[in-house]
Amino acid sequence: MSRPKVVLAYSGGLDTSVAIPWLSEKGMDVVSVTVDVGQPVDLEAVRRKAEASGAVTAYVADARREFAEEFLAPALRANALYEGIYPLSTALARPLIARHLVEVARREGATFVAHGCTGKGNDQVRFDLSTTSLAPELEVIAPAREWKMTREEEIVYAKAHGIPVEATKTSPYSTDENLWGRSVECGVLEDPAIEPPEEVYGWTRSPTEAPETPTAVTIGFEQGIPTSLDGNRAPFHEIVLALNQLGGRHGVGRIDHVESRVVGIKSREVYECPAAVVLIGAHQALESLVGPRDVLDFKRGVEQRYAQLIYDGLWFAPLRTALDAFVRSTQERVTGEVTVKLYKGSARVTGRRSPYSLYQQTLATYSTGDRFRQEMSEGFIYVWGLPARTWTAIGTQPTALTSRAAKYRA
Ligand code: ARG
Repeated sequence: MSRPKVVLAYSGGLDTSVAIPWLSEKGMDVVSVTVDVGQPVDLEAVRRKAEASGAVTAYVADARREFAEEFLAPALRANALYEGIYPLSTALARPLIARHLVEVARREGATFVAHGCTGKGNDQVRFDLSTTSLAPELEVIAPAREWKMTREEEIVYAKAHGIPVEATKTSPYSTDENLWGRSVECGVLEDPAIEPPEEVYGWTRSPTEAPETPTAVTIGFEQGIPTSLDGNRAPFHEIVLALNQLGGRHGVGRIDHVESRVVGIKSREVYECPAAVVLIGAHQALESLVGPRDVLDFKRGVEQRYAQLIYDGLWFAPLRTALDAFVRSTQERVTGEVTVKLYKGSARVTGRRSPYSLYQQTLATYSTGDRFRQEMSEGFIYVWGLPARTWTAIGTQPTALTSRAAKYRA
């Protein structure tokens, strides 16, 4: 009788490598899937390792472009920052990986999907929800939620099953990387009162070590999406890569955050997201130039909700599609150029231009050429202030109401 198939999200690390024999021992054939979302990975080496660990088939895919265009672009258009600060780098990759798992599961006729997440984090929520939203017929298994092995026990288990365990530096940190950023947790970071030691950073120079001369970079946007860097057209994912490099060199994009996880835990996270920080700042600046006040104001509420649903694993839920439609319609005129100056940890917008700019020199100027009719302001303010004046005149003392109201002259 043929064994049921399980499609495993495989990173090549210890947890997911141990998951292969663990799942086979439960009676399943393991098909591994490794998705390149911009993490430093040698896809061929990972494929070989999956096979060496017992996978019956090992799939690998370069999804960097897909990640940028279908996940980072909508997030950028929505200026998505969880709790106002985290660009959601790890969170955004999960639904993409899940979509690949589902595709392979259907191709292979698998009944199960598996991932290496523990039962304490957000990522399990994102994998489980994304997978089952796309394919309700699939069942998700998370071995690390069940096996109750310590890291040391996992190493013993791996060796016993002939899995190559790199005897490398046993880093106390747990990290996750993709195009949109690098996440670090555990170790000394578990004390939120302690400043993260320099060793936790991998992408960014310390601002104190950053160059003494600033670098100005000009980002071209078309309908909310970056399309050029200093006048050179490039695909979005390449612009992201370039800005990670450049921003990182200037110490830009370090984020130290105590965040509220979906499962109720507060956790201390350190992120390095140079490109995301630069691009969101530039995008916001361009929106300020071309967007009407009420649209920008309403959008800020949408942005917060959008960020939260990404964090919460609801990418493939109807609310995201609906909010996307709103956000997309706000981006029609978000075309133009923004210059950002990178200097010792900061990314400051220093200039912006757009063919759709609502900024009119003749209205804003205090010099000659002023076309604003200042005398009209008095009447405008009279009407605009009417509700507040009435409110105050009526007051809160019921006995005084009639006399006060009588005295009041509009
Ligand atoms: N807390 C972040 C999130 O929920 C990042 C988790 C990253 N994982 C890691 N192994 N460091 O999106």
